[in-house]
Amino acid sequence: MLSAADALCGNVRYIRRMDFRGKLILAPLAGITDTTFRLLCRENGADAVLTEMASAKGLLMQPERTRRFLEFREEERPVGAQLFGASPDEIGEAAAAIRAMGFDFVDINMGCPVRKVTGGGAGAALLSNPVLAGEIAAAAVRRAGIPVTVKIRSGFGKDPDSYLDVARAVFDAGVSAVTLHPRTRSQMFSGLADWSHIGALKREFPGRVIIGNGDVRLPRDAARMIAETGCDAVMVGRAALGNLWIFQAMRSELFAPAGQAGLLAAPGRSAA
Ligand SMILES: Cc1cc2nc3c(=O)[nH]c(=O)nc-3n(C[C@H](O)[C@H](O)[C@H](O)COP(=O)(O)O)c2cc1C
Repeated sequence: MLSAADALCGNVRYIRRMDFRGKLILAPLAGITDTTFRLLCRENGADAVLTEMASAKGLLMQPERTRRFLEFREEERPVGAQLFGASPDEIGEAAAAIRAMGFDFVDINMGCPVRKVTGGGAGAALLSNPVLAGEIAAAAVRRAGIPVTVKIRSGFGKDPDSYLDVARAVFDAGVSAVTLHPRTRSQMFSGLADWSHIGALKREFPGRVIIGNGDVRLPRDAARMIAETGCDAVMVGRAALGNLWIFQAMRSELFAPAGQAGLLAAPGRSAA
């Protein structure tokens, strides 16, 4: 028997199994990806959406204030909530709260470069501490009861040096997927995202779900990222600003009969 939520979203298999492979996912964008924006993206071809980051501590200490970042509508499903924090206990407890709120998955932010976040040991600061990153992921997996994903950058300092170690720690902890935005924290948003690191991550963890992110701007870029890196899914952020239709256009490129034909239908990249 289908629940009302399942029936509304019309993508029952996805919710139950939460298979991220072959998906076009809206990136979390603080101050932008609210429930209205996310719903419009879902209606225009995004396969899954995420809230902006919310503080795990804030959710536990000031639930009413933090919950406004975590409002969602049934029609957004599958929808994940993103948390940041530096304490495994707090992240675990907050992840359980996220499940109780009805989200389909929880994402842990290990890439935010902003000092307000890294200063407390959260976000990109965790790229310098794979052991703590693993403990945080393990606490979330233990408590959440829904799939847990982690979003990282390629390193904390100048060099992209820690993403493989952090990915190993969080995969060992049982997370379902890792998203890599291949810029370092010190790069902030300068330069280009170096997709070769997404390829390196996929080669290191061939059986795991890797979501590529960064500078996917044109419809053909999603197909190009998959072809160049072997990533399993693509996350799109800034390109959706003012152009919600980009997801449909990307899908057309991915399933185009010529050129990058059928990338999402290739073995191991189920389009389901
Ligand atoms: C305004 C803005 C807000 C962002 N907020 C978040 C956030 O809350 N959580 C997060 O993990 N990343 C955040 N990001 C990073 C994006 O999710 C994404 O990783 C980055 O923009 C690269 O992808 P893109 O080139 O497709 O935009 C933010 C980026 C921007 C520009």
